[in-house]
Amino acid sequence: MNSRLAGTRVCLFDAYGTLFDVHSAVALLRQRMDDRADALSALWRQKQLEYTWLRSLMKDYVDFETVTADALDFALERFPQDDAVNLRAALLDAYTTLSAYPEVSATLSTLRERGWKLGILSNGTRRWLDAAVAGSDLGALLDDIVTVEPLRFFKPDPAVYQLGCDRMGADASEVCFLSSNAWDVSGASYFGYQAVWINRTAQPRERLGGGPVDEISTLDALPELLPALD
Ligand code: LAC
Repeated sequence: MNSRLAGTRVCLFDAYGTLFDVHSAVALLRQRMDDRADALSALWRQKQLEYTWLRSLMKDYVDFETVTADALDFALERFPQDDAVNLRAALLDAYTTLSAYPEVSATLSTLRERGWKLGILSNGTRRWLDAAVAGSDLGALLDDIVTVEPLRFFKPDPAVYQLGCDRMGADASEVCFLSSNAWDVSGASYFGYQAVWINRTAQPRERLGGGPVDEISTLDALPELLPALD
């Protein structure tokens, strides 16, 4: 157990990149793409994130589905593909039911059996998150799915993390927040969550302050970090 997680009783998970593999849409359609498929997928994700941050700063919110489509259009212009119109539609369709990482279901089941309250806190839309959760059969394991839609701006604005507290009925110090996105870990820990970084791709730490209380490479290692609940 990590002693800095003593006092937590709720686990809030980021969705994209943490529970669901954002590169699984391109993986599914790789045979229709040229050898730049991985570069396209990486640029798509990078632009998607940039657009969430920039639109929050510009106070020009559009939802995550629109941001994701805009980012894909940028990536497809940078790495043009055959039959791009149909490919674009197929990639966006695949994005609605991205694959969960292999360890997600078992980890959530273990935590639930141990009495943890579990939720998602995501920049995504409820529509897409419901589809991804249903596609991976995770619905019965989650107490709530919290999205930024009522706020109309994105993480890492502190108000998003506050919404997570309000919806889960928990103080910030009672929340263990899990994200594979290091910038999200910084935002969450600045807000007051105890944040654990799921560093799936062995990235260096961001120079943002507000670092994680712990770092693991997959969610498999999470149950042993957490305290026993009364
Ligand atoms: C999310 C993005 C940031 O699910 O991964 O909020």
